[in-house]
Amino acid sequence: MKNIRVAIVGATGYTSLETIRWLLKHPAAGITYLASRKQEQPISELFPELLGRVSLPIAPFDVAAIKKAAEVVFLCLPHVAAMEHVPPLLDAGLRVIDLSADYRIKDAAIYEKWYKHAHSDAKNLATAVYGLPEFFTPAIRQARLVGNPGCYPTAGILGIAPLLREELVEPTDIIINAASGISGAGRTPSPQHHFPERNENFEPYGIGTHRHAPEIQQTLETLSGQPVDMLFVPHLIPMDRGILETIYLKPRKGVTLDDATQAMEQAYNGKPFVRLRRHNLPGTKYVANTNFADIAVKFSNGRLVVIVAIDNMVKGAAGQAIENMNLMFGLDETAGLL
Ligand SMILES: NC(=O)c1ccc[n+]([C@@H]2O[C@H](COP(=O)([O-])OP(=O)(O)OC[C@H]3O[C@@H](n4cnc5c(N)ncnc54)[C@H](OP(=O)(O)O)[C@@H]3O)[C@@H](O)[C@H]2O)c1
Repeated sequence: MKNIRVAIVGATGYTSLETIRWLLKHPAAGITYLASRKQEQPISELFPELLGRVSLPIAPFDVAAIKKAAEVVFLCLPHVAAMEHVPPLLDAGLRVIDLSADYRIKDAAIYEKWYKHAHSDAKNLATAVYGLPEFFTPAIRQARLVGNPGCYPTAGILGIAPLLREELVEPTDIIINAASGISGAGRTPSPQHHFPERNENFEPYGIGTHRHAPEIQQTLETLSGQPVDMLFVPHLIPMDRGILETIYLKPRKGVTLDDATQAMEQAYNGKPFVRLRRHNLPGTKYVANTNFADIAVKFSNGRLVVIVAIDNMVKGAAGQAIENMNLMFGLDETAGLL
């Protein structure tokens, strides 16, 4: 009998599928409620790989029924929809892990500027905890609402924060060159994510407008206690899953590669999901279908270059959400994830 009962809301999307897959192998948590706006089909018809593995019906979003079935809710919804669902779930005494961006950005005015929508839940925004376990474990353990980090921000913050915090690099002049597989855009179809548009096509997008930029900036500023100025350039790459970020940083005077490597080693000592690569470079294939973030640091032409690879669906979404659940319920952080 698994003692942590999990409800998933937005059950028909990609992050839901990934959460289901991982929870099927979890030693202490199991799925007890699947909510969607559509209930016509069993989940195993929507996701054929679940045939014979999940027999739960898809049910409507009904807070009383969720409260009976579960202790914790994974919200796998788009932003705005998420903040409409959070207040009744918290009021019912449930704990919530929100995979959308609605509870990541602390300043509602910045949220509104980037997401073009007013934030409607100031009360819970104020107490939500940013769920990046490498830096916020004590707060996550106490949290009732976790804002699960975005996929690009997870990689970017892990790659930059230790060096900024130790004042080894300038807080300005940061360039994040990032690429993501197409599952990062979710399952809902759109013309720009149609197969002929994406196949064999490596293309930048969202320069100066991508909504993950303020999330990265906010978290780096919180962690380093100084204003940060950065340029974030995302690309779509024709792969199903995976994120690779190459980050260019200006070292402060006299800083060496050894200093940077030591700062990374100290920051991630005992952190089970960060692997520092010394003898080869991170690549998306080496982290695919895992909750690992692989990081390497190099020094070239007066720049520190940090390379980070994660799986956007795992460390960038469902895996990190399960890591947060593990911490919130006093389990080993790695339970079900190795
Ligand atoms: N994909 C990634 O790599 C990734 C990584 C990190 C974070 N995220 C975030 O995680 C969240 C879910 O992403 P996803 O990739 O799973 O998206 P998705 O595949 O598009 O699924 C989202 C699900 O939400 C439901 N939904 C859509 N609009 C809704 C509305 N207005 N009200 C209620 N339900 C609605 C839909 O389910 P029904 O139609 O069945 O109700 C849909 O299947 C998003 O906020 C996304 O930004 C995604």
